[in-house]
Order: sequence, then C-alpha cells, then structure tokens
Amino acid sequence: MEGTYYANASWDVEAWVDVIAIEYESLVGAYPFDELFRSLGGSIDLLDVGCGTAIFPGYLDPVLSADIHIRADLLDMSESSLQRAAEVLTALEHFAVGDSYRALIEDLPELGDGRYEVIWAIHSLTTVDIDRMPAAYDRLMNALKPGGYLFVYQLTAGSAYQKVHGLYRASRGGSRYMEFEDSLEILAAAGYDYEVHELAFDHVVPDRPEALATYLQKVTLDDTVPVEIFEPILSEFRRDGAVRFPQTVNLIAVRNQE
Ligand SMILES: C[S@@+](CC[C@H](N)C(=O)[O-])C[C@H]1O[C@@H](n2cnc3c(N)ncnc32)[C@H](O)[C@@H]1O
Repeated sequence: MEGTYYANASWDVEAWVDVIAIEYESLVGAYPFDELFRSLGGSIDLLDVGCGTAIFPGYLDPVLSADIHIRADLLDMSESSLQRAAEVLTALEHFAVGDSYRALIEDLPELGDGRYEVIWAIHSLTTVDIDRMPAAYDRLMNALKPGGYLFVYQLTAGSAYQKVHGLYRASRGGSRYMEFEDSLEILAAAGYDYEVHELAFDHVVPDRPEALATYLQKVTLDDTVPVEIFEPILSEFRRDGAVRFPQTVNLIAVRNQE
C-alpha cells in the first residue's frame, strides 16, 4: 500500500484513499462480520449512518460469503455522497440500495422501531453536535431488531487525528471532534451492552510540503489551513523521509438485547 502511495506523482484524492486504506483493512480484519451476518440469517437490513462514498462496504464485500445479501438504507447530510454511495453499492456483489435519507445524524428521521439487523456509523460521528448524541444513540438502538448490532468506528482521544485537530482549533477555533471516549460515556450511561475492539496503525505521508498540506487539509476538513501550524507534531512524527501519524481508531459493537 505504501508503494502505490509513494508512486503517486501528485498528492491527490487517490493518494489520500491509499493512506487511509489501512483503517478499512484493519477494520475488516478486526471483526468477524461475515460470521455475524450468517448468524443473523444472511439477509441483512442495514442502515449506513454517514455513508459518505461507501468506502467501507467496498472493503467488506470481498470477504463476505456467497449467501450474504445486504439491503442498505443510506443516511448522510451530503446529497453527492448519497448518490456516489448508491453507485458504489450497486456495483458490489452483496449489497443492494434501499432508501436514502438526506439528514443530519442528530436529526435522525423516524425509521421505524426494530427495523434493522445492523446499523453502522463508520468514521461518521466526528463532526456531530455531541450534546445531541445521547438521543441519537437511543434512536439508533430503537431502530435495531432484537439481537441486532450497532457498529461505531471512531477516532480516539489519543489519535493523531485529535492532536492535529487540537492544533487546528488553537489556531482557528471551531468545535471539537467527537471521539470514541464520548461514545463510550453515552453508551455506558444508557446501560447498553457493548464490546470494544482497539485498532492502531500509522498514516504514512511523504515528507513533502504539498503532500502534507493535502493530508492535513483532509484531516481538518479545511482546504486553506497552512501546514506550519502543525510543525510541533510533524517534527515528532518524522522518520525516514516520511511523516508517520499514529492513529488509534476503535470499533464499538453494541448489541440490542433480546
Ligand atoms: C469520513 S466520511 C464517512 C465514510 C464512510 N462511512 C465510509 O465507510 O466510507 C463522513 C461522512 O459523514 C457525513 N457526516 C458528517 N457529519 C454528519 C452529520 N452531523 N450528519 C449527517 N452526516 C454527517 C459526511 O457528509 C461524510 O459523508
């Protein structure tokens, strides 16, 4: 993966996808999704919360057994992401597209109680209003069938994501990112039955100004941010011509008790 990435002449969207591929590869390897889907009957109604461009389903699809069929409802605040996700899912073997909801996660529409075997929010509970998330979690849990699972994949307080974002906020302000620890607090207070899988890996970015600029712009979701404000952590992470951002991103699997 690093090879493909270093071969890129210009640092572009494809290079970003190469760098973050490790997050999705690690996730697919960390949890027995195929086994779970088979135990749930093989025919899965899924709600993909903050579907983005459906990168995760693209990594999961090849490891699923032939008899797994997933009908995915999509939710995102971005119309272009909903459209792209639908195109991506349609081209996959195990996925079909159901309903699409253009909405904020915090304003989750009435989805019907007990409707889904599986709901997931993969890297999508970052730019949410944290104060509104206890209620959003309750609505997601209500939308699960008994015995169904909610999966949340979320950056942790100790991740380089948060260190970068901390320097960004010190320079430019803005709300803090929601992190794994916030979700854990909400789930524990509500008494849900969950388990945690801890994942750790590096994002490896060449030590070149344009590459670092694009990486840091993607992490901060700001195309105008100057690289210099991140210098304190760049020097810490520099090694062998690259900058290695150590990320810890955890998976929470929440089971809806029967
Ligand atoms: C990193 S992408 C998600 C990646 C995707 N889940 C995957 O597996 O490839 C984050 C997505 O969450 C959406 N999002 C972020 N905050 C949101 C919110 N408060 N309400 C609805 N969608 C949100 C963004 O529009 C974006 O498409």
